Amino acid sequence: MSQTPSIARATRLLPPDAAGIAEAAALLRSGRLVAFPTETVYGLGADATDARAVAALYAAKGRPQFNPLIAHVTGLEAAQAEGALDPTAQALARAFWPGALTLVVPAARGAKVCDLARAGLDSVALRVPVHPLARSLIEAVGRPVAAPSANRSGHVSPTEAPHVMADLETRIDAVIDGGSTAIGLESTIIACLGGKPRLLRSGGVTREAVERVVGPLLDVPDEDGPERASPLSPGLLASHYAPAAAVRLDARDIRPGEAALLFGRTRPRGVASAVAALNLSASGDLAEAAANLFAHLRALDARLAGLNGAGIAVAPIPSEGLGEAINDRLRRAAAER
Ligand code: TXA
Ligand code: MG
Repeated sequence: MSQTPSIARATRLLPPDAAGIAEAAALLRSGRLVAFPTETVYGLGADATDARAVAALYAAKGRPQFNPLIAHVTGLEAAQAEGALDPTAQALARAFWPGALTLVVPAARGAKVCDLARAGLDSVALRVPVHPLARSLIEAVGRPVAAPSANRSGHVSPTEAPHVMADLETRIDAVIDGGSTAIGLESTIIACLGGKPRLLRSGGVTREAVERVVGPLLDVPDEDGPERASPLSPGLLASHYAPAAAVRLDARDIRPGEAALLFGRTRPRGVASAVAALNLSASGDLAEAAANLFAHLRALDARLAGLNGAGIAVAPIPSEGLGEAINDRLRRAAAER
């Protein structure tokens, strides 16, 4: 593979209109990197059929190359050109596409998504986003668009264009500014590789909603368990989604020097003297909490920058519905690095 230049360049902010889409599509078609909003988080797009563009994308993110990418397509038909969807996968596609669900399926014969985007696996991750800017962009590119979250590898996913700029400015060509993303958590990933469907990553579509369509899901294999040698979802590193500050979970009190991430009306002891306090949802609404999660983590991280040894204390958050994905991201943010 050719050496990928990491030459600093101006990163343009494109408007969320027809001109912005046309510009972004032209850049992507010529192998450049453009970040764009989806309903989950901002994605960093590259032409999924162009190995050089995908190599440049890995370099811009600083992502280990064994970590495969999601190919974003316009609909079921385009997905079936890239992957073999069994009846379970098709039922899920009909129920949740377009939307916050990614399906990992066997790669189709004659698929156009390049090997590098799949990190050499014989499966492919496919998603049909619902966000109108994302849809128009993929349509205009006319090819599958590889798009991991538009953050530096290991950082918190971006839910606003300024988050993308903070992580990737000078490393990518453009960002379409579409405001805040509605869901705020990445897509739910389900593997349909024969046998029962398996939940690889909880996300914007709840386990309960998926199980209503296809019955009980198998779980993510234990990352430290026997399957670790061939991880089913190589991107699910234990430490991920991490702010710079240390993160302490299930905090029922706030210690001196800590910033507080709250949920609902409970006020933990010591919160009055917290360095900063933000509430994911004062009314205890998990959808609102999901939408605020990454922006609040970034904001508290910024408040703690330069202060010694302090971290972010996170109040307990219920685990049902979107709470499963929220707690998953928080556990990764808190994991040892
Ligand atoms: O909401 C989302 O899914 C966002 C937006 C931009 O669409 N994208 C996103 O991409 O979160 P990324 O690259 O940050 O996460 C993709 C995950 C990784 O954990 C990767 O390991 C997994 O999908 N993945 C991709 N292809 C896979 C495959 N063939 N088998 C198993 N896991 C796969
Ligand atoms: Mg990511």
